[in-house]
Amino acid sequence: VPAVRRVTPADVAAWARLRVALMVDDGHLGPDSDPAALAGAIEGWLRERIASPTFGAFVAEEDGTVVGSGGISVYDSPPGPALIGREAYVMSMYTDPPYRGRGVARAVLAALLDFAREAGGVYRVWLRASDMGRPLYLSAGFEPRGSYLQIHL
Ligand SMILES: CC(C)(COP(=O)(O)OP(=O)(O)OC[C@H]1O[C@@H](n2cnc3c(N)ncnc32)[C@H](O)[C@@H]1OP(=O)(O)O)[C@@H](O)C(=O)NCCC(=O)NCCS
Repeated sequence: VPAVRRVTPADVAAWARLRVALMVDDGHLGPDSDPAALAGAIEGWLRERIASPTFGAFVAEEDGTVVGSGGISVYDSPPGPALIGREAYVMSMYTDPPYRGRGVARAVLAALLDFAREAGGVYRVWLRASDMGRPLYLSAGFEPRGSYLQIHL
């Protein structure tokens, strides 16, 4: 079972590395992009949010190394049919390829949902799943809604 924790200052660089790897895999980095500069920007952004009540970054560790990541942003939304409007969005889910298929992302996702529950007043969590990620979220209870997946807390 991987050990999952909220990022500490010592984890910021690893979380940024995994987010850049996700963007490289997704083809989001064009030929002119500078992955090192992007990683630096992510690190600076995350360092300011280490203790944020509305942004949670988490890492999973195996063999003494950070091998998986995830992030969740809690935000206010005007009331909809449920009348309460606090929601959370999941991003930056990534597991280093050699460590895939052994429950790393599942454990990170559980920590993200706990963060949303502890934030208070969040009635749903949603995300846009990759084809690789989709089975994980469906088996964790997320349901398709239009072009995204969501779960009610
Ligand atoms: C998607 C990703 C994060 C999953 O990470 P992971 O640590 O391998 O996932 P887990 O081992 O926790 O797997 C959780 C569930 O996902 C599903 N799953 C994982 N790998 C799978 C595979 N190769 N084929 C089918 N289902 C798979 C299974 O339902 C699995 O549950 P199970 O082990 O109980 O059967 C990882 O593959 C990844 O980083 N992919 C590239 C980036 C990406 O697509 N990120 C997701 C963006 S939404």
